[in-house]
Order: sequence, then C-alpha cells, then structure tokens
Amino acid sequence: MNFEYAAAPESRSVVKIDPEYGHFINGKWINGSSHFNSINPATEEVLSRIALGTAADVDAAVKAARNAFDKSWSKLSGRERGKYLFRIARIMQERAREFAVLETLDNGKPIRESRDVDVPLSAAHFFYHAGWADKLEYAGVDTTTTPHGVVGQIIPWNFPLLMLAWKVAPALATGNTVVLKPAETTSLTALLFAQVCQQAGLPDGVVNIVTGDGSTGSAITSHPGIDKIAFTGSTEVGKLIARAVAPTNKSLTLELGGKGANIVFGDAAIDETVEGIVNGIFFNQGHVCCAGSRLILQESIADEVLEKLKRRMEKIRVGDPLDKNTDLGAINSGEQLAKIQELTAAGDAEGAGRWSPNCTLPDKGFWFAPTIFTGVTQAHRIAREEIFGPVLSVLTFRTPAEAIEKANNTPFGLSAGIWSEKGSNILWASQHLRAGVIWANTFNKFDPASPFGGYKESGWGREGGRHGLSAYLKGSAK
Ligand code: NAI
Ligand code: MG
Repeated sequence: MNFEYAAAPESRSVVKIDPEYGHFINGKWINGSSHFNSINPATEEVLSRIALGTAADVDAAVKAARNAFDKSWSKLSGRERGKYLFRIARIMQERAREFAVLETLDNGKPIRESRDVDVPLSAAHFFYHAGWADKLEYAGVDTTTTPHGVVGQIIPWNFPLLMLAWKVAPALATGNTVVLKPAETTSLTALLFAQVCQQAGLPDGVVNIVTGDGSTGSAITSHPGIDKIAFTGSTEVGKLIARAVAPTNKSLTLELGGKGANIVFGDAAIDETVEGIVNGIFFNQGHVCCAGSRLILQESIADEVLEKLKRRMEKIRVGDPLDKNTDLGAINSGEQLAKIQELTAAGDAEGAGRWSPNCTLPDKGFWFAPTIFTGVTQAHRIAREEIFGPVLSVLTFRTPAEAIEKANNTPFGLSAGIWSEKGSNILWASQHLRAGVIWANTFNKFDPASPFGGYKESGWGREGGRHGLSAYLKGSAK
C-alpha cells in the first residue's frame, strides 16, 4: 500500500536572488564582462546570470589573495584566524534555511538533504577547522612548515556549498588565502558565502570567488601566482590539471571519481542493508563520487535482497526538490542527464536487465527514475564507468575472495561498503579492499574529523581530519 502525501513545499521567500552577479574579489563585487544563465534544473527557470571569469579576473583575484596573505592573514595568530572561522560557522547556521533553499533551487537536490546534510555539515567543517586554527602543533602535522600562500580551489556541482566548506575551511585555518571557482551550474551558494565573509568582517582578499566554466578553471590552474591547487571533479579534468601542474612548483590535491563497491555478505541484516543500499546510491540523485554504485551480493541472499530492494524503491518519492517529502530530486543538468541516458543505454545494449519502479516524472526539468541493472558483468560499461546518477549495477559473488576481487577490479578506489553481522568478515574485507573510505553496516556517513580521499584514479591526498590539514601546509604533503 502506498500513502498519498499532501505537498509540503518549503517557501522560497527566504532567499533573495539577484538577476545578475559579478565576482567577489578583494572583499568587493566586481562586474563580469560576460554572463551565462544559472537555472533551476527542476523547472528550467533561469534563476540568475553568472559572470564568466576571464584570465584577467583570475589575475585580479590572485593579486588580492597574495596581498591579503602578505599584509594581513599570515600576520594573524591561529587564535585570531580561528575567531573568523567560528564567526563564519555561526553565520552559516543562522542563515541555514536560506542556504538550504538556495542550494535546492540551484542544484535540484531535495530540501530534506540540503537542510539536513549539506548545510549543517558545511557549518560543521568551519567549526571543526576553527578549533584547529590555534592548535596546529597538536594536530600531528609538521608545524615547522608554513602555509602555501595562495590556494586555487575548483569545485564541482554535486555538493556546491559542502565542497566549498571542505576546501575553504582548512585553507583558512592553516593560514592560506583562497581563490575559489564554483561549478558553472551551481554558483549561487558560493556567492551567498561571499556575503557571509563580508558579514563576518573577514579581511579583504582572504577569500575571493571567481565564477565561470572550465576556461576560468584552467586560468586558475595555470596561474603562476598560485601555490597550491585543490580540485574536486571528474577524473578527466583531474588528469588535465595534474599535467598542467606537473612542471611547476605548485602542490596539488585531487578528489576525483569513484565506482564504489557495496558488498553484502550472506549473514547481513537484510532490512537494514536495503536501507543502506538505497542511501548509498539514491542519496543526492547518485551525484556522489563515493556512491555505492556497484552492489555486490552474495548469491545465497541475492534474490531476497533484490526483492526487498525493489519493494523499497517503489516508495522513493521523486519530484519537486523543495517539497519536504521528496527523496529524489532533479538531475543537475541536461548534460548530466544525457550522460546517464547514454550509459544506461549501454547497459541495455550489453545485456544487463533494467528495472525501475513506476513513477511519474515531471514534464519540465531534468529527471531520471531510480534504476537498477541486474545481471551485470565486470566487462559492462555500467560496472566500470562512473554514471553519477540514480543507477545501481548489481553483481553477485560466491566466496569472499571473489567479492574482493570484483570490488577492487576498477580504476577507482574512493569508497566501499561492507554489510555483515560478523566483525571478522568486516575486518578481513576492509583490509583487502583498496578504497580510501570503507563503511561497515552503513554508507555515505561524513564527518569533518574523518579524512576523505582515494586511491588510483580517485585522486591524491586527503580532505578533512588531521590528514586534510597537512595538505594545506608546505612540505607536509604533496
Ligand atoms: P568537471 O570535472 O568538468 O567539473 C568540475 C569543476 O572543474 C567545475 O568547476 C568545472 O568548471 C571545472 N573545470 C572543467 N574543466 C576544467 C579545466 N580544464 N581546468 C580547470 N577546471 C576545470 O565535471 P563535469 O563535466 O561537471 O562532470 C562530468 C563527470 O565528472 C560527471 O558525470 C561525473 O561522472 C564526474 N564528476 C565527479 C565529481 C566528483 O565529486 N568526483 C564531481 C563532478 C563530476
Ligand atoms: Mg566538464
């Protein structure tokens, strides 16, 4: 039986969106020379016009960041830096609703997630790093080293505010200044964050935000005045950046794609596991680098898990992201939808079995029903490539060794999940899995104190925790 839910839309009156934005450079708003649209992917409504940053805009931002580093930020004690970070964290909490509604409008993710995950976790990253700013000597990092100076940060569209927080908070806590570029489809919460920096009285030039696309990003990665690059996004662009940075003195951290294995052993608690599978792949429309996108089931329980999973998927509510009942929102862009459609068509063509619950998708905007593919083999594209959408590929195994072999058979190594009631299974499997983050009997749990990052083509370096701090100090990490 399905319950009908009355619509419970969150009001959008709490946000004020300007018709056009410039760049935030040296504490001031600078007009852009040309603009592009930022749309609401759930309705295709144009929300605002975003400035396309040029090499000259990036240069102005780098100069402002250098000046701020030399004149103000590097002269402050850790305690003083920490005060600004605490202030930013508190303002983010005070303006949490505004951030959540704006993120949902610009990104398409359900308000339930922006409100309960993205925004509180973003504030938590600032609180966490505020606490470290005056205690770096206790963090186990090499404190004879100094901050890099000016850091260039390029972030993706799947967690716009959260990825900003992951990058800006540790950079400031360790004494760096920042030039950040949000992704072209999701600039609005970064621009609201710029207002928060002003509200917090952060010295001019410590945080600069230049909006734009890949051309703006490459103006950042190739700028000789930048000391360190931190990038989160596709493996393809990560490789381009690694090549551009290799002959220079810049430090580099890369957080790239994934194809996470979610392994279910025969003794797992099935109902709990089904919830974890759903959270692992349908959270944030599957636009998650650490998504559990390959479900690897022990044969003895495969039928039971799939039957319960399908029953559970029938209850996933797809639709208006601002509705508080919604579980699965809009796909972030037409391009991303096309990529999901291409890869799922390859799944059909290569002989996997597609299943989706009956659900009506809205007429306007970009949508994709929650989908699973069974009968997937390791050679299928849907088992090897990152789909970055609400699509789960299901494989099976007989012996634990086979599960590990399948899980590790990927160019990526970001995340993995293990479901078992036996501690020995969990310890054994986690020792053999090649993944930066391994969850046991849970999935997609994040905490600022816990380092995050990958092996192989999932990237270099860690973000969060004490390990993440060292990436922002010279000599402590590559
Ligand atoms: P992307 O890697 O092109 O974009 C990420 C960021 O890099 C954006 O801010 C973009 O403007 C910037 N960028 C693009 N080209 C650049 C360049 N040459 N130099 C410097 N910066 C550049 O990712 P895209 O095209 O939006 O998504 C493509 C695929 O990448 C997705 O389908 C997904 O599979 C994967 N992806 C993975 C993410 C992750 O968190 N691991 C995040 C976003 C995408
Ligand atoms: Mg791209």
